[in-house]
Amino acid sequence: MTQESSPAPDNQTLTITDNRTGKTYEVPITHDTIRAMDLRAIKVKDTDFGLMTYDPAFMNTASTRSRITYISGSQGILRYRGYPIEQLAEHSSFLETASLLLDGELPKRGALDSFTHQITNHTMVHENIREFIDAFRYDAHPMGILTSTVAALSTFYPDAKDLDDPAVRRLQILRIIAKMPTLAAYAYRHRRGLPYVYPDNDLSYSGNFLNMLFKMTEVKYQPNPIIEKALDVLFILHADHEQNCSTTAMRGVGSSGVDPYSALAASCAALYGPLHGGANEAVVRMLTEIGSVKNIASYVERAKAGEVRLMGFGHRVYKNYDPRAKVIKKLAYMVFDEVGKNPLVDIAVALEKIALEDEYFVSRKLYPNVDFYSGLIYQSMGLPMDLFPVLFAIGRTPGWLAQWEEMLTDPEQKIARPRQIYLGEDKRDFVPMVDR
Ligand code: SDX
Repeated sequence: MTQESSPAPDNQTLTITDNRTGKTYEVPITHDTIRAMDLRAIKVKDTDFGLMTYDPAFMNTASTRSRITYISGSQGILRYRGYPIEQLAEHSSFLETASLLLDGELPKRGALDSFTHQITNHTMVHENIREFIDAFRYDAHPMGILTSTVAALSTFYPDAKDLDDPAVRRLQILRIIAKMPTLAAYAYRHRRGLPYVYPDNDLSYSGNFLNMLFKMTEVKYQPNPIIEKALDVLFILHADHEQNCSTTAMRGVGSSGVDPYSALAASCAALYGPLHGGANEAVVRMLTEIGSVKNIASYVERAKAGEVRLMGFGHRVYKNYDPRAKVIKKLAYMVFDEVGKNPLVDIAVALEKIALEDEYFVSRKLYPNVDFYSGLIYQSMGLPMDLFPVLFAIGRTPGWLAQWEEMLTDPEQKIARPRQIYLGEDKRDFVPMVDR
């Protein structure tokens, strides 16, 4: 038992016998985990390093203790600070949810108004950022633009490095949440060869995002309230998801003490991957490739043969239906009623039905995840496929920042630096070129 861990209550221990030495060790169990550092006491020789755990992709490793988001993979539960995602999607707004994730409680009216006012007044970016985005090729992927531009923001805020000051952290958090939609919209407008639209502070967070995306020659953009609401709910559904790949990047990179813009750029890069936030784009490309309900059976056979993956299916944690996918599926029909039905949804619904009855997927507990239907909604809103991961990033930003700040203020955390099992060559001498 290491000195920093308190004595375990009765029987909450693991007794380990090392058969190499016959020694036994009592290791405390807390929260159904043992401290990996407690295994270092298990040695053959006193000079040994001691035992480590080996856990590629962290399949069974808790990297932190957190109070932000709870997920139950078996029951399909997702709660932000204890509130079920279904209730937040129904009753909350994205900025209220962002405040909840950051501060741990639903804000009172005055606090929410103040948070909203501050976010609204940080939506503009330095004109150099506009010129920076202009330098990208017309067909640059928006996630590549977003990832680069978020990192570039760090060069405009040198004050962001004083991370021990809560006020400095809060100012960067406000700036980043406020500016993500601006960067996203600029990337979209650059792609379309359209002039950038500056923020309209009269509009809501999601309404202003639609304004910066779609405003043309009208004097004042009026967002469609159905689309504005649907987008706000989608941002809520994406706001956090405990220790997913991109949040692990935020915590890992942030643990070096770097500013949050640089750490968040690493999160955007992780989210860009097709196995993570890039899946919503990949789902629509997959459904487009399938093309018709009659082609589903053959595509499913290819997935079962391992030739392709059913994008938008499966999850490291959820071994039940992703609760967000249920909400998104209902939201999709609300949007389709307003803008017309996305023809791909018939293929998606038929594919889901077939997969949920097929032993290959049932036995592997592969269900639709958050990405399966979200892209269909974005596409129906008139957004291009390669912007979908960018929309995921906007939603996930408060979660990344809440997790980042929890890491910084956790006395147990320090710079992340895992160990390894070395299987390479033993010591050998340099070989001159003539002798190779
Ligand atoms: C997100 O972590 C998070 O919380 C992420 C996220 C968040 O909010 O942050 O929820 C958002 O990233 C959702 C996931 C989006 N990605 C996809 O939809 C891509 C398709 N799904 C996968 O590639 C996969 O399911 C993962 C990456 C999501 C999970 O992968 P795991 O847990 O590492 O599972 P695995 O790859 O080990 O698969 C287990 C088995 C394998 O078969 P066997 O080798 O055992 O025979 O299931 C199969 C896999 O081949 N499998 C699939 C499949 N997903 C897993 N087979 C076909 N289609 C799939 N989609």
